[in-house]
Amino acid sequence: MKTDRREFLKGAAWMGAAAAVVGCSTTKGFGFGDGGSMATFADKPFKKLRVGIVGLGRGGAGVNGFNAIPGCEITAICDLNAVRIKRTLDATAKAGRPAPKVYTGGPEEWKKLCDDENVDLVYNATPWELHVPIALYAMNAGKHVATEVPSAFTVDECWELVETSERLKRHCMQLENCCYGEIEMLALNLCRLGKLGDLVHAEGAYIHDLRGYNYADWIDDKGGDGAYWEFWRLRHNAVHKGNQYTTHGLGPICWYMDVNRGDCFDYLVSLESNQFNFEAYAKAAFPKDNWKAKLKVEMGDMNTMLIKTKKGRSIMIQHDVSSPRPYSRINTITGTKGLLCDYPYRVAWEDKPGAGAHSFFADEKAEEIRKEFMHPLWKQSGDMAKKMGGHGGMDFLMVLRLAYCLQNGLPLDQNVYDLASWCCLCELSEKSVRNRSATMDIPDFTRGAWKTTAPLGDLSVDLGKMGLA
Ligand SMILES: NC(=O)c1ccc[n+]([C@@H]2O[C@H](COP(=O)([O-])OP(=O)(O)OC[C@H]3O[C@@H](n4cnc5c(N)ncnc54)[C@H](O)[C@@H]3O)[C@@H](O)[C@H]2O)c1
Repeated sequence: MKTDRREFLKGAAWMGAAAAVVGCSTTKGFGFGDGGSMATFADKPFKKLRVGIVGLGRGGAGVNGFNAIPGCEITAICDLNAVRIKRTLDATAKAGRPAPKVYTGGPEEWKKLCDDENVDLVYNATPWELHVPIALYAMNAGKHVATEVPSAFTVDECWELVETSERLKRHCMQLENCCYGEIEMLALNLCRLGKLGDLVHAEGAYIHDLRGYNYADWIDDKGGDGAYWEFWRLRHNAVHKGNQYTTHGLGPICWYMDVNRGDCFDYLVSLESNQFNFEAYAKAAFPKDNWKAKLKVEMGDMNTMLIKTKKGRSIMIQHDVSSPRPYSRINTITGTKGLLCDYPYRVAWEDKPGAGAHSFFADEKAEEIRKEFMHPLWKQSGDMAKKMGGHGGMDFLMVLRLAYCLQNGLPLDQNVYDLASWCCLCELSEKSVRNRSATMDIPDFTRGAWKTTAPLGDLSVDLGKMGLA
């Protein structure tokens, strides 16, 4: 599926399709699909977990992780790109693992991987437009699914994933790695221990200057590490407003606040700056008759979304992938006793009720707190995760937990309701922006089960049992 650049500029179907963001449903699903709630669903233990990986760019996080975990085997891989396939086969051989079956040569080869009887879990790290089709096809083929972020973009897509997962009793997990970051899990632990008091407000973001990547040509065929395949991110950003990458800042906050497990999103408003940076960047970087210099980009630079939860808490989430700013996920959580902020990490709480927390603790004390209250998963597996790498270790911890839960017949840390509630905000924030920041109701994909579902519990793993001690 090669995109002709002139066709791209002339405005293919995606331009009109995305501009008409209409008709989503917030009221579907009065009862669970045939199979009942997936909130605490667990399948039989997979003593041997056979994984098929589609998309071998970011899919490399899965390759590294599963190749390092005993009892897991990457039995199949799929990509269109020969360099990435070779790199994956080399890495798998270097890890002393059997060679996976390769599916390549056409844009629908992933269907064969999903149908492969030697695959239990389809791990999907393809461009955004393939996330929902692959997840639905794989579940219908009887496979559990883990999909990169965002796993869906519209409310209707989210409902379809929820209902399919419930009907077929297949896991449909979103691979939100930032939930496993060291400071995010420290914050989670402080919340669980009550150090910050009752939670009140949180702020998160995806602020990452991706202008270069958005406009870069795909060069991987020549041996380099290319940017986005067929400009998938630029194509999406060019026709959408709103926050189209909601989950890196939001996922950890939902864990702190027990969203879908004690609390639930209620409504949002979203406000966006105009677009100043994308087009200016392209005009400066490319000749004026180049399609990139002429491309109109809809997405404003800074989107700010405010969410109110049913328990009365507030959340602010920002998205900016085009401004010249340092990377930040903000990662701030405040409660009735104190707060934790990130970028850089700082912490403060009251010594006694009403005393106030007017200054952050000194660096030495913050460091003591980081060590003392480090999340048990990080205490136990953090050194190994750092050695394995991948965003400071969080990628490995995500794969480790996913493997551990499937190998031991446990519910997954991120279920289909988390996926749906975090991802539906892409469409809802866009609709709000396009309607002068109108309030948008957020569907309760759990259909009330958030009131009775227990908060996420123990997130540790038994390294001895996994053969990793
Ligand atoms: N969680 C994170 O930290 C993180 C980081 C980067 C990317 N991502 C997500 O991972 C996904 C992939 O991102 P990326 O940076 O690897 O993109 P990429 O463009 O570098 O890689 C996509 C890969 O998919 C392959 N592909 C495209 N169409 C295909 C098809 N029909 N069949 C098989 N393979 C196909 C391409 O050849 C390419 O190798 C995106 O959803 C992105 O949002 C997440």
